[in-house]
Amino acid sequence: MLRLLRDPNLLPPEKLTLLSNIAAQAQTLSMPCYVVGGFVRDLLLGRPVNDLDVVVEGDAIQLGKKLVEVYGGKLTRHFKFNTAIWHLPDSTDFVDLITARKEIYEKPGALPTVTPATIDDDLRRRDFTINAMALRLDGEGFGELLDPLEGQTDLGREVIRVLHPQSFMDDPTRIFRAIRYEERYDFAMDVQTLDAINPESLKVLHSLSGERLRHELDLILDEEDAAEMVLRVVNLGVAEAIHPKIPTFHAEDGDYLEMDVRLDIPADRRTMGYMLWFMDLYEDEVFSIANRLEFSNELTLSVWAAAQLKKSLPYLVESQPSVWTYALEKLPLLSIYAVYLISRENALLDYISLWRHVKPYTTGDDLKSRGLLPGPRYGEILEQLRAAWLDGVLTTKAEEDALLVKLLGSPN
Ligand code: CTP
Repeated sequence: MLRLLRDPNLLPPEKLTLLSNIAAQAQTLSMPCYVVGGFVRDLLLGRPVNDLDVVVEGDAIQLGKKLVEVYGGKLTRHFKFNTAIWHLPDSTDFVDLITARKEIYEKPGALPTVTPATIDDDLRRRDFTINAMALRLDGEGFGELLDPLEGQTDLGREVIRVLHPQSFMDDPTRIFRAIRYEERYDFAMDVQTLDAINPESLKVLHSLSGERLRHELDLILDEEDAAEMVLRVVNLGVAEAIHPKIPTFHAEDGDYLEMDVRLDIPADRRTMGYMLWFMDLYEDEVFSIANRLEFSNELTLSVWAAAQLKKSLPYLVESQPSVWTYALEKLPLLSIYAVYLISRENALLDYISLWRHVKPYTTGDDLKSRGLLPGPRYGEILEQLRAAWLDGVLTTKAEEDALLVKLLGSPN
């Protein structure tokens, strides 16, 4: 373990120093101190580690206060679970500080009641064996691996295994986590774990809030292998438990989650994922799913726009650029791009890269100085000039001026 901890490719030296500093302060408070969960899992897999989850047998908030006193930074405290987030000084980095605890789930799917406990209890409350390992940080024990549930063996066997059959009943969001780990590491759930995804646990999942479910789907869409994960969510019956109208996902569409950076559209992997997933649905189905998953208005609009645009394509093909532009102008750019990706309709790309930028030379001020009285004619004339440019009727400023004179001369 020590060798892995000291490998700068897995753990940057400044993070190792940070862990040593935390451990030293925990020791002054006589609190045994461990780093747990994904950190240990990824280190053992030889993958660079991300988040630091530190567990102490003692009061994590007290440790947090001490760290702020000695090293600076800020502390966010959560008294319900006696945990804290230490925001490091002059950095956006943070460390989760957790009081070792036991959890009792009084009602399936609800948040658990917790009591302080030992590190062993703390590991036994967790989701999967591969996430239930700890590395001791303080004193003589530095670098010692605690693995009471054979997580290391399961890493070797490439298996995702729940700690007990009720695990998904207690917390059905773990089903999404299992799917994420399966695809991310190319592991597989063992039989007991797959069996725990059953009508009973799916019923509890059905009762979860839209926000919790969407958060899990968001995390899936953030992953490199998102398409395979979404497909697994559908094939295991999880999607249906969320909402009966959620369709399957076309695995090949997964490639489209990577945005083309040359286009000047802000990339948004999650929005793109939901659009690709729900684009073939009817309007009422889109709204019903968006409602269930508590989508923001913006996300709902993007998905709805993509679905509507895809259905309108047959009526738009062969249209003049000005007609395309008129139809597309009020839709989110990302929705247009999503429909382009699955249809390869060139007009959509022309709109994104060219047509939407086309403007006549004439401005509202020019119309005013030519004596046009304020009113809807302003917009109409500018729109007609723009349409003429878009459709290739105008090619020079002189032609535009001539058309303007004509338009100003005509009553409408
Ligand atoms: N955990 C759990 N049950 C959950 C969520 C989290 O038991 N529903 C535990 C696991 O031990 C997990 C740890 O809390 O390892 C930290 O959770 P999180 O940061 O979400 O996951 P990571 O293990 O860091 O994994 P990932 O790489 O997916 O973020």
